[in-house]
Amino acid sequence: MFTFNTYRFTLIAAAAALAIPASYAQAPAKLKVGFMLPATGTFAALGTAIENGFRLYLNEQGGKLGGREVEFFKVDDESDPSKAIDNVNKLIKRDNVDVLIGSVHSGVAMAMARVAKSSGTLMINPNGGADAITGSMCAVNIFRSSFSNWQPGFAIGQAMAAKGHKTAATITWKYAAGDEMAKGFKEGFEKAGGKVTKELNLPFPNVEFQALLTEIASAKPDAVFSFFAGGGAVKFVKDYDSAGLKKGIPLFGTGFLTDGTLDAQGSSAQGVLTSLHYADGLNTPRDNAFRLAYAKTFKMQPDVYAVQGYDAAQMLGVGLAAVKGDAKNTEGFAAALVKATIDSPRGKFTISKAHNPIQNMYLREVSGKENKVVGIASKSLEDPATGCNL
Ligand code: PHB
Repeated sequence: MFTFNTYRFTLIAAAAALAIPASYAQAPAKLKVGFMLPATGTFAALGTAIENGFRLYLNEQGGKLGGREVEFFKVDDESDPSKAIDNVNKLIKRDNVDVLIGSVHSGVAMAMARVAKSSGTLMINPNGGADAITGSMCAVNIFRSSFSNWQPGFAIGQAMAAKGHKTAATITWKYAAGDEMAKGFKEGFEKAGGKVTKELNLPFPNVEFQALLTEIASAKPDAVFSFFAGGGAVKFVKDYDSAGLKKGIPLFGTGFLTDGTLDAQGSSAQGVLTSLHYADGLNTPRDNAFRLAYAKTFKMQPDVYAVQGYDAAQMLGVGLAAVKGDAKNTEGFAAALVKATIDSPRGKFTISKAHNPIQNMYLREVSGKENKVVGIASKSLEDPATGCNL
């Protein structure tokens, strides 16, 4: 029976509910972030650095992005494109993530981008350089905190020609990253008057370089361009030196050849010239603070991969803040990012209409344990984003 007392109780409860202060209001659901990165294989260390960088930025923000606490889901993609669709679907369908972060390998990143595009899931790519991701396959919900393969390739081609070299051989892994960096290199080098006289490659992730090094020795180009990374880069740089080539035919590359690898490469890397959107010795307050915090937290030095992970988190934070944490509002997220300036340890950068960083490509020379910045190979370089109609 409805008594006066129950009536009074109901009124009091209703009044109390209305008076709940904002601080007791329900917290927004956690933001589900899916890391699809390599934890095994030749790129394992790269995956770790990306995750470390991401977590560092998140910690600096008190554990929240766009007002939401973050919960992580992870798959080891093994840098294997044939497993990429299954892996990305685990994150999207099983774990229901709000945003995908990945990957390192261009082929894996391409497969992720395809699935992200068709499902509409927000994706920030913290490395994989496949040109099409921010070219013909570009999409409103797909972003890069890294580079397109063309960017560092083109820049080092111009820098090699500026050093007076007239002929070059290229040597890379045979897959999108190797093919596209070598293509960018060729464009930069030949536009500046050079000529690529030999193009060599081997399947990813093979490291049997001897036969190809013999070919370089007999072709006698003025210089060599190469792209390898992670464990493969360590072995290539050492083998190039042991084969006695380094003195007579200077080695150039995209900066991945010597980033995060110098401890293992030792003296064989000394003097190698590369181009990349990050370098040691930038000596800006922003980079110095980042490096100190990274070294303190993870007991190791940061590299380009750590910066890309850190900036993926920054981009996510900037975009989500603009849409009040709603990761499904990809239009609003994108509109904010293309207007933003990202205050990266690499230097400030903006994001192109195709969602790729517009950034300086530094010229770096290996000296001791550092990729010392020695100049800017290409200032504020924007990828041509061929085929993108955003
Ligand atoms: C790529 O596959 O796009 C890739 C992998 C490793 C790097 C750079 C690019 O260091």
